[in-house]
Amino acid sequence: MSAVTTIDRLGEHAGQTVELRGWMHNRTGKGKLQFVQLRDGTGFVQVVVKRGQVPDELFDRLAECGQESSMVLLGEVKPDPRAPGGFEVVASGGRVLHVTHDFPITPKEHGADYLLSRRHLWLRSKRQWAVMRIRDAVITAIRTFFDDRGFVCIDSPMFTPSACEGTSTLFELDYFGDQKAYLTQSGQLYAEASALAFGKVYCFGPTFRAEKSKTRRHLTEFWMLEPEVAFADLDDVCQLAEDMVVHIVKEVLRRRRPELEALERDLSKLECIVGGFPRITYEEASKILLEHPDSEFVAGDDFGAPDETILSAMHDQPVMITRYPKQVKAFYMKEDPEDPSKVLCVDMIAPEGVGEIIGGSQREEDLDKLLAEIAKHELPKEEFEWYLDLRRFGSVPHGGFGLGLERTVGWICGLEHVREAAPYPRLMTRIRP
Ligand code: 4AD
Ligand code: MG
Repeated sequence: MSAVTTIDRLGEHAGQTVELRGWMHNRTGKGKLQFVQLRDGTGFVQVVVKRGQVPDELFDRLAECGQESSMVLLGEVKPDPRAPGGFEVVASGGRVLHVTHDFPITPKEHGADYLLSRRHLWLRSKRQWAVMRIRDAVITAIRTFFDDRGFVCIDSPMFTPSACEGTSTLFELDYFGDQKAYLTQSGQLYAEASALAFGKVYCFGPTFRAEKSKTRRHLTEFWMLEPEVAFADLDDVCQLAEDMVVHIVKEVLRRRRPELEALERDLSKLECIVGGFPRITYEEASKILLEHPDSEFVAGDDFGAPDETILSAMHDQPVMITRYPKQVKAFYMKEDPEDPSKVLCVDMIAPEGVGEIIGGSQREEDLDKLLAEIAKHELPKEEFEWYLDLRRFGSVPHGGFGLGLERTVGWICGLEHVREAAPYPRLMTRIRP
């Protein structure tokens, strides 16, 4: 009996005969020899099939197989330094489960729209294999990072009665006829309540924005990681964000080398993410942009994507920009005691033109100031009564941030567009498949 194994574990079986279960990614060869590129979800390996060394029936069946035919193959694991995973398999037997022809996604170039319409099949390609496995490693790295530091995962609801990040990007739904509900834009407000109950918490789940922007950075549904910490100030928030990003990149480099290689990612761009991220204030960043010939930045405005690209291009590591003007940021951010026109917030801008991957702040813990901001933003006070309770009962300084998962994965993978970082991306123009 040969052991059933997976391609990522072939190294444990050198010299042995194993059973692999998967799909034919590609096939070449002729006459008495076939080279089957087998994939099983964990990786890709070449299986050498020689007539005479496998039953003739299997050899002939394999010769009929098109891309994505499914099969079980038995063979000996042979070290091969030229092979991508370091091994190849020399077949001795097996069976074809399903002969397939005309798989719609071939190794040739297809347009983005064609591929997105076939996302359910596109996921089988090598590039998507690499991206999704890196996404998985990012998620695991995030959870272990917070778990190791004593954070408790307390998830926030997806249905909410109010806005967190401005009313212009809310998805509204009919909640049993008599009530309106919205899909959450951010779990933060609930994470604040959880932090005052548990000290250090995070929530991690899907968030929704009716973004009418068709940029390479925007999805309408994306995953956000949101830690929230009682007794934290802006510096604590910045340090936590930096430590977490360093940990994520380190873990991906440790666990997902073959995937990064499949993407032909320049590893030097990731190996330099070691901490000590530059921190500059909005005022300092503004000065740089106002003097920059390519910037159209207007003093006092929020930074646009081209501005973020200019600022990030000056550094190898992500840049943290703090203390933005109050009018460009959300209602809950704490006023800067040194300059009441600013708030104690931070945006982390990733290198290579990826843009903002993290937005965070210290929160306004003063009831009256928060009430004034809710009024100024014309938010319905009655829906925020529970949130205001956090300032009525044991209010403490606290803060946190939100990390966009897909933008982070996009950066680490070196993707052109954030849509490839989501398994089934939701865009303004696409909710299928
Ligand atoms: O900066 P944002 O809007 O911050 C918040 O929502 C805070 N409530 C988070 C917090 O403090 N707990 O969003 C946080 C991050 C952004 O930096 C970006 O990475 C990502 O979420 N993001 C998006 N990613 C993809 N598509 C979109 N439409 C996104 N909007 C935000
Ligand atoms: Mg933001």
